[in-house]
Amino acid sequence: MRIDVVSIFPSYFDGLTLSLLGKAQDAGILDLQVHDLRDWTHDRHRTVDDTPYGGGAGMVMKPEPWGAALDSLADGSLSPSKGRPTIIFPSPAGEVFTQATARDLAARDHLIFGCGRYEGIDERVFDYAASLGEVRLISLGDYVLNGGEVAVMAMTEAIGRLIPGVVGNPESLVEESHEDGLLEYPSYTKPSVWRDRDVPPVLLSGNHGAIAAWRHEQQLERTRTRRPDLLGE
Ligand code: ADE
Repeated sequence: MRIDVVSIFPSYFDGLTLSLLGKAQDAGILDLQVHDLRDWTHDRHRTVDDTPYGGGAGMVMKPEPWGAALDSLADGSLSPSKGRPTIIFPSPAGEVFTQATARDLAARDHLIFGCGRYEGIDERVFDYAASLGEVRLISLGDYVLNGGEVAVMAMTEAIGRLIPGVVGNPESLVEESHEDGLLEYPSYTKPSVWRDRDVPPVLLSGNHGAIAAWRHEQQLERTRTRRPDLLGE
């Protein structure tokens, strides 16, 4: 999979070269390219923002650098991947990102993330982007970040680990929180007693049926207590 990220703070994404996603890039499973939006400006100050029409607080990202960035990333001139890309703009005004969104996006060949800053990006950019690919505005949750970078890091990690070959043991993906609509069961390792706290005895029983039943009950109980909304309650 090819992922292009456009940002005015490309160094935010240095962390994505670490750990599993770093290994996936080394192995050629994931081609992650981070671009500086200012590379598509032409003035001496490399300007990416301007005051809003109609007045109001803050600055708005100008459309021209975004148009040029999307043209060059979507038309394959920098990207070897074929077909129309999925173009994602993180936004607190977008659809909420879930494990289902991650799964959907992990099945695509080419994602382009556009990180907005300030009061956002000139609205016409979203309409123009729709002529180049499928546009999605996606929110990490109901709170406001300073810009899209942290949201794109979170989404890239959630999507990247679903690409076949990125996580060594695919079984670990199946048992995680949210994969079956429930929160994950609790995990324990050695020692069996630690600071007067015992590991639940069923886990030491060797009875695989009883362990599976206990884990499922724990998933239900946790979900009921912590996230009743997931059960429709
Ligand atoms: N940019 C600012 N806040 C955001 C959020 N909650 N999700 C995605 N992008 C954002």
